[in-house]
Order: sequence, then C-alpha cells, then structure tokens
Amino acid sequence: MNDKITVSTLKKLKKDGIKITALTAYDYPTAKILDEIGIHFILVGDSLGMAVLGYESTIPVTMDDMVRHTKAVAKAAKNAFVVADMPFMSYNISKEDALKNAARLLAEGGTQAVKLEGGVEIAETVKAIVNAGIPVVGHIGLTPQSVNQLGGYKVQGKDDKTASKLKSDAKSLEDAGICALVLECVPMDLAKEITESLSIPTIGIGAGPYCDGQILVLHDMLGLTQGHKPKFVKQYANISQIIKDAVGNYISDVQNRLFPTEEYSFANRKSDEK
Ligand code: KIV
Repeated sequence: MNDKITVSTLKKLKKDGIKITALTAYDYPTAKILDEIGIHFILVGDSLGMAVLGYESTIPVTMDDMVRHTKAVAKAAKNAFVVADMPFMSYNISKEDALKNAARLLAEGGTQAVKLEGGVEIAETVKAIVNAGIPVVGHIGLTPQSVNQLGGYKVQGKDDKTASKLKSDAKSLEDAGICALVLECVPMDLAKEITESLSIPTIGIGAGPYCDGQILVLHDMLGLTQGHKPKFVKQYANISQIIKDAVGNYISDVQNRLFPTEEYSFANRKSDEK
C-alpha cells in the first residue's frame, strides 16, 4: 500500500504528539531499507560529503552530487517524506539561482522538499521557493555550511543574545512558510521553547528530547563513520566491524581455496555423445 508521507502528515504527527523519525540516506539500497522499516523522513543531507565522498566538510558538495544521490533515494522511498539539502552557495547568490536549483532537486532528483541552512537572512529566499510550490525545511543552530564563520562545530544559542536570535530565526522561517525546522546542536531548553512556539514540527539533532522529531546521520548511528563521534550520536550498530569480519573471512577463504567451491560453480560442460 502506498502511504506517502506529505507536509500535511508531518503537521498532523506534531499535532497528535507522535514523534517524527528521520535519518539521512544517500543511495537506493539503504533508502529502501529505511523506507521498508517505516522511517517517516529521509534527508539526502549534504553530510554526503563527509559520510560518503570522504570530504572534510559539506562545503565541496555540488548541485550535481545532490541531484544524483537524491534521484537514487527518491526512487526507493515509497512512503517516507524525502528532503534534499540545497548545497553550499546554491541559494545565496540570487533568488533566481535558488529557485532554479530547488526546482532541479524536485524535477530531476524527485525530492518532495528542499532544506536550506540559515535564519532571518534567508527568509525572503525561502518565501520565494515556497511561493513557487516547493516545500522547504529550515535548518538553524549549528549550520555546517557556515562552519568557517561559526569557528567550528559548536553548540549554538548558549547565551541570551544568541538564543534570542535563534528564536527570531525560527519565527521568521515559519512566517516564510517552511514545513519543518531542523534544530542542530542547541541547548535542550531552547529547543523546547522553539518547538512549543511553532505550529510546524521541529526535528532535532543534538537538540535534546523536546523536539517533535529526531534525525541522525545514518553512517554515525550505524557505526560506519570513522573518527570523531559527536556527543549527541547514539550508535545502534557497529557496521564497520561487521564489514571487516565479513571481508576478512572472504580474504581467508579465497587464499585458503575454501571459496569458490563446486557449490558456487557451474557444472562441467557435457562431452559430445556419439
Ligand atoms: O546534512 C545533513 O545530514 C544534515 C543533518 C545533520 C540534519 O543537515
């Protein structure tokens, strides 16, 4: 049965007090697994850069990267709501550029919504995209595309001045028409206050237990990411170890002539009968 989640479903989940579950995905097979298990929301994040492409940050990720990976995820997501990140500088140069790039992610990529990082300063751009009929998800707090300006991957909104800026960012994005708001790395009391002040759902990552939903980078929660693990990541599996064990066994089997055996081979050709 096709039960595709839409912007209305997300709003209703908030109203009914049902937590929205969200994860990132970047390819067809993993998106298919997430969709089949019943995740509500799949983000084709520009975390693609670090999780899959081996970059140091999200900044080198291009529109072509996002379109290609969004296409694969959207094909797999029969039910989940699909959101694609607009990459660095794809919406900051002009409104025309932002509209053209958002439209590509829908028309070529097949996403249902696009996500933009930023607050008050991008509200007019958000409004233009929404007015063109494209659902937009906001993203405030730690916004990785601005990591160089923020001076690193740090918790945001810890003092009254920065907390108040995040509250007005949230309000102006809601007024601009966003359908959901990602809150990344903010104190949990601030996330609670913002969540309670909005009619659209908040999706937290490092934002505590009071958001309307929760998102993690799939590769972090599965234990596929090497190196630093942020405090807010709960690791649910150790897939790196599972892959190492499997590949180690394969190497050993091949070298010890235990694979392939006849079981995995095609029968000998029949000799011609006279
Ligand atoms: O790119 C991404 O994966 C994100 C999440 C961290 C929300 O923006």
